[in-house]
Amino acid sequence: MPLNLQLRNDVYRRPLETALDRLGIKPGFTCVDVGAGGGDVSVALAKLAGKNGRVYAVDIDPQSRDLTAEAAATAHAQVLTLTQNAEELTLPEKVDLAFCRFLLLHVHSPITVIKKMKEAIKPDGWIVIQEPVTTAGRINLKPLSMPDAKHQDIGALLPKLILEANLKLIDVWAEAPVGIKDGPVVDYLHYLTEVDPGTEPVILPPLVTAIAQK
Ligand SMILES: C[S@@+](CC[C@H](N)C(=O)[O-])C[C@H]1O[C@@H](n2cnc3c(N)ncnc32)[C@H](O)[C@@H]1O
Repeated sequence: MPLNLQLRNDVYRRPLETALDRLGIKPGFTCVDVGAGGGDVSVALAKLAGKNGRVYAVDIDPQSRDLTAEAAATAHAQVLTLTQNAEELTLPEKVDLAFCRFLLLHVHSPITVIKKMKEAIKPDGWIVIQEPVTTAGRINLKPLSMPDAKHQDIGALLPKLILEANLKLIDVWAEAPVGIKDGPVVDYLHYLTEVDPGTEPVILPPLVTAIAQK
């Protein structure tokens, strides 16, 4: 199924805003968005980093390069795209912020990616990871399932993985979009799972945000 950026942006906009606010990204920041997909996070970061900042958008799928370049051009944002496996992340410079969202649930080795993000940041840099706890999502109280994801509940493991990577856990919390009937929450559920919940209440997978430093 093609990536529907706008829907994901609509329903998970608030957790992204909360994380970016919490961090206080300044103009001139250098950032990497790992597993950038269509680049919506990359563009949000680039807008905050401004003309003197730089955002690298990294994804294993070459299609992401074109989608991200298009999103960045539309938003007049400065984003540099790189086609790379996150488990072998290599950047031309150390960055102030390494960010990933909805990536670790798909990779072979989440801890390897976290360690690569650690290597990518400056000594006082930041790591922000946003990953779901898929089975904590609910349709009329029944747990959601995304069997195609390699680590569908990776969000719940973030504190453990961050400590395993010898990082300082600065903050960690979860936010979940909730909805019923017509609207972006139910549309996004349908897009994710092809399940139509009718009039039953939906809680999308909570997104755990973890903030870490060296
Ligand atoms: C669910 S999308 C999330 C996109 C974006 N981060 C967002 O939140 O909208 C997951 C992305 O991770 C990419 N991806 C999966 N495995 C990867 C890997 N090992 N290295 C880099 N990117 C990867 C996929 O190609 C896809 O674009």
